Amino acid sequence: MNFDTLIINANIATMNPEFGYGNNNPYGTIINSAVGIKDGKITFVGQIENLGECSANKVIELKNHWLTPALLDCHTHLVYGGNRSNEFEMRLNGVDYTEIAKNGGGILSTVRATRELSFDELYELSAIRLKDFINQGVGTIEIKSGYGLDLTTEKKMLMVAKKLGEEFNVNVQKTYLALHALPPEYKDKADDYVELACEWLRQLHAENLIDAVDAFCENIAFNREQVSKLFSVAKELNLPVKLHAEQLSDMNGAGLVAEFNGLSADHIEYLSEENIKKMSEKGVVGVLLPTAFYTLKETKVPPIDLMRKYKVKMAVSTDCNPGTSPSTSLLLAMNMACTLFKLTPEESLAGVTVNSAKALGLEHSKGQIKVGMDADLVLWDIDRPADLSYLIGQNRLSGLWLQGREMKIN
Ligand code: NIG
Ligand code: FE
Repeated sequence: MNFDTLIINANIATMNPEFGYGNNNPYGTIINSAVGIKDGKITFVGQIENLGECSANKVIELKNHWLTPALLDCHTHLVYGGNRSNEFEMRLNGVDYTEIAKNGGGILSTVRATRELSFDELYELSAIRLKDFINQGVGTIEIKSGYGLDLTTEKKMLMVAKKLGEEFNVNVQKTYLALHALPPEYKDKADDYVELACEWLRQLHAENLIDAVDAFCENIAFNREQVSKLFSVAKELNLPVKLHAEQLSDMNGAGLVAEFNGLSADHIEYLSEENIKKMSEKGVVGVLLPTAFYTLKETKVPPIDLMRKYKVKMAVSTDCNPGTSPSTSLLLAMNMACTLFKLTPEESLAGVTVNSAKALGLEHSKGQIKVGMDADLVLWDIDRPADLSYLIGQNRLSGLWLQGREMKIN
């Protein structure tokens, strides 16, 4: 075999069932092993003695540091203008998130700030946040629109997301968050706005700017019927759907995602057993957003045990946004998934690798260290994989390869 890069003497959390992940070998671990890379793909994983005759353009010898798949964040609102620390102060003085939203703050205040910025200004602000993600080993990131609520700004957000992916050489998945909040110009005309959003969906899709479609199904946002209309158009266009579901109340949104064979139901604090069963049947991923839970001082924990019982795959994500999760740290989300939601560190790592890949429909190319998959790898200076969830505010990343290319880390 000939490799572009051969990494040897690594401890590897493969997250790959071929190495016993999900069965009898936590993290699918292999010790003191090797990964071979050719043309951006993984072409060998295993014990060094199984390598046989081989050559490599570059050999990287490790001292038993840990390799994991590069992390994937499957739910962010990374592209936005402004800042909402004023609302943080208001919440500390007793005004809650729903009240702030009803009074024209919340999402709408970020909409105003995002509309005002030029493409370049929005790009620069967003790039600062993206760098944080990359520095923590994130190689794939989903970025939603949804702070424009008019065609020009929604398009601007999606184009910024696209450019970020191109400039930083990371995989950006662009989601049109079509129904996030009702813009003030459509007050009391929600159904008209839904019609319009469906029209924009067609246009933005025609411009190749959309990988998936999302909405916010909640009392303070859009109802099931309205979301269903949007999802029908997405289905017609062959675009996968996902949903901000059951965050503040049970709107039966996760069931709707299952009906549409969608990718994921996200937040899901108020998720019912009935809908967990439906998610399980259809392979819908449950996306946990513990930083948003923490910020809003929620007390209702997502039904983790029931999801385990019905074998619903769980992903973990930052929800990076200026309102409920002003965080760019997926490692912190991993810690919070364990401390607040009682995930095991193995579930937490699965949540940002193999299960996050599934939540993005990328399970065949990313999220595991497996022959044939993209060579997206992170090297960590840690003693064991649980350290990634255990450490708080300590980033032990020491190398990152995306599609076989070594990335510059700041
Ligand atoms: O994922 N739930 C709705 N959307 C975002 C919050 C957006 C905001 O407050 O700006 C979320 O939590
Ligand atoms: Fe969100």
